[in-house]
Amino acid sequence: MNTIVQSAIAESLPAFLAKKNYTSIAVLVDNNTKKHCYSLIKDLLPKHKLIQIAPGEKAKTLATCGHIWEVLTQQETDRHGLLINLGGGVIGDMGGFCAATYKRGIDFVQIPTTLLSQVDASVGGKLGIDFNAFKNHIGVFQVPNAVLIDPAFLNTLPEAELRSGFAEVIKHCLIRDKSMWEVISTKDLHEQNWPALIAHSVAIKDVITTEDPTEKGLRKILNFGHTLGHAIETLFLGTKKHLLHGEAIAVGMLCESFIAMQLGQITKAELAEIEAFLIAIYGMVPLEASEFDTIINLTSQDKKNKGKEVRFSLLEGIGKATFDQAISKNQMRKALEYYAN
Ligand SMILES: NC(=O)c1ccc[n+]([C@@H]2O[C@H](COP(=O)([O-])OP(=O)(O)OC[C@H]3O[C@@H](n4cnc5c(N)ncnc54)[C@H](O)[C@@H]3O)[C@@H](O)[C@H]2O)c1
Ligand SMILES: [Zn+2]
Repeated sequence: MNTIVQSAIAESLPAFLAKKNYTSIAVLVDNNTKKHCYSLIKDLLPKHKLIQIAPGEKAKTLATCGHIWEVLTQQETDRHGLLINLGGGVIGDMGGFCAATYKRGIDFVQIPTTLLSQVDASVGGKLGIDFNAFKNHIGVFQVPNAVLIDPAFLNTLPEAELRSGFAEVIKHCLIRDKSMWEVISTKDLHEQNWPALIAHSVAIKDVITTEDPTEKGLRKILNFGHTLGHAIETLFLGTKKHLLHGEAIAVGMLCESFIAMQLGQITKAELAEIEAFLIAIYGMVPLEASEFDTIINLTSQDKKNKGKEVRFSLLEGIGKATFDQAISKNQMRKALEYYAN
């Protein structure tokens, strides 16, 4: 069970720190969260060490972990030290991984500062880093000592990052809550009620990941949109303009909704509804027919697969999802063709 608190950081952080006596505290930031977020917590903390890294996915490497472990070691952090991860999913996943493995594990707190990390990455205990070309290839499951969510951090977040995180909110509604889907899908990005949506998404993800922490079953529904979405994200990494995670997942959700429609799990009208909203928010990502094979082949790297089968989490009506559905290359190709046309 996660300890997740959504309130002003000026209340939640001192309350957390008052519960235990830490021998040392370090705060992990990237250049952007140092600039925009650190000032909101700096004065709430006793003496601490700041660990600053470069922003973005490219820093999510073993080399950066080496630097973090190095600073913790220099600071003589013992098993009673605390690491505070102040940033988006990169900081949370990597800082959490470093804390969970440093001296076999020290306490750590997630203070997520992007929408994506507030509604998704900070909940559920998946930690890790990228390795070679593979995303989140090395990691562990470990629940943080607390997740402190303050929507105020979003005030400085670039709009593209907000839109990217919104894809996970949309996903949570589509797989689990039709009534909230009806609320969000009538509003554009700037009309959304973020504090309410964050609480809603966190509750959904927390329930699912508490029931199935290590993704043996139910947790897989959170991968809706992510099988083709991740493959498209990877394709764009190598060859094209940069695509944010949520932008790729939006394409994935649309393609995978098409597959569900083909299988008779959602209606044509439901597909049309999902399609209209996703395209209104995200526009179209240019996909060429010549890229379909690469995308389809990339899905074989998916962590949800068993043996050679590529397994999807698909909608079953709006508000419900299945998992472990084996989908053929041909079905994937049809979905990509549908999207591209
Ligand atoms: N652990 C999980 O369950 C899980 C789930 C989803 C995603 N993830 C991981 O999360 C990562 C993506 O997370 P992300 O989208 O938060 O990326 P990110 O951490 O790279 O943050 C995005 C950008 O926003 C900047 N930023 C962060 N907070 C800011 C703020 N308040 N104001 C201004 N700028 C700010 C960052 O410096 C960065 O440039 C990926 O590595 C992904 O694998 C993990
Ligand atoms: Zn995602």
